[in-house]
Amino acid sequence: MSGNVRPESMKRIVNKELAEAFIEEQIREIREQVGNRKVLLALSGGVDSSVVAALLIKAIGKKLTCVHVNHGLLRKGEPEQVIEVFRNQMDANLIYVDAVDRFLDALKDVSEPETKRKIIGKIFIDVFVEEARKLEGVELLAQGTIYPDILESKGVKAHHNVGGLPEDLKFELVEPVKLLYKDEVRVVGEALGLPHSMVYRQPFPGPGLGVRCTGAITRDRLNSLREADAIVREEIGKLENLPWQFFAVIPDIQSTGIKDGKRYMGWPVVIRAIDTVDAVTAKSVILPIETLLTIRDRIIAEVPGVNRVLWDYTDKPVSTIEWE
Ligand code: XMP
Repeated sequence: MSGNVRPESMKRIVNKELAEAFIEEQIREIREQVGNRKVLLALSGGVDSSVVAALLIKAIGKKLTCVHVNHGLLRKGEPEQVIEVFRNQMDANLIYVDAVDRFLDALKDVSEPETKRKIIGKIFIDVFVEEARKLEGVELLAQGTIYPDILESKGVKAHHNVGGLPEDLKFELVEPVKLLYKDEVRVVGEALGLPHSMVYRQPFPGPGLGVRCTGAITRDRLNSLREADAIVREEIGKLENLPWQFFAVIPDIQSTGIKDGKRYMGWPVVIRAIDTVDAVTAKSVILPIETLLTIRDRIIAEVPGVNRVLWDYTDKPVSTIEWE
């Protein structure tokens, strides 16, 4: 797709027919751009990179190599879904990198939020570059840049896409959804046959669960967070009107619990659900009491180390959406 300005004549992709026409056009354009060359893609499993992967697999098959980096901060089931959908169902060339130890070792004892973000971003680039250097003859880099990224003039997405590659790794970019809005990317994703749960996934911060396991991340607290988050997403996911973002946090504090007559220290899980248009301001969603009770009971029964469940129903401002 050439040019960074959406032509006024471009129809909003609101249905399957328009999505299919877009897909056909992109397949032609991608084939023309790529020719016989090889393309690399950092596949996070988020909506944008997944749609780009599916488009490229259709257009150029095994000339695309996807790299999925598991940094240990993904939500429950996410790395497995990427492997199932792209390797098993779409027969993609997928390199799965288990970098969990590398990330968590580097994050050990680091409690300052921006330092955590920087470490996660840097190691992500390091791992991706190592994989890119192992491959021969790759000339192009595909990215899930979407139109709001261009409008915000970031150009390259800061988090799940690959900014900051070293000078000697210069790639030509393939950005087939760069003129689309998020809702259009979703319609295209469904037309490409991606699972609904992938296409309609809620926004997830680049540093993943890392910013919801506040302070210095420990593996046991992170594992409990992943389980609690899965419960929160499952139960709130049953509501008719889904909030824009809903998740769990386990802050780096402990409080006293009691079990079999004995006192012990455990973690609180915080439930957060918000609605927003642009994430600049946000309203806390007032959850039904039945949902809150089910979440409380399930977390206490199913998640190790947790002895308290709290609900954060503060708006932004004054709270940010994430806890750090
Ligand atoms: P806050 O917490 O600032 O979040 O109200 C606003 C939106 O941005 C997401 N967020 C991030 N996304 N990298 C990202 O890609 C980050 O470091 C990051 N921090 C916050 C957050 O989930 C919310 O949707």
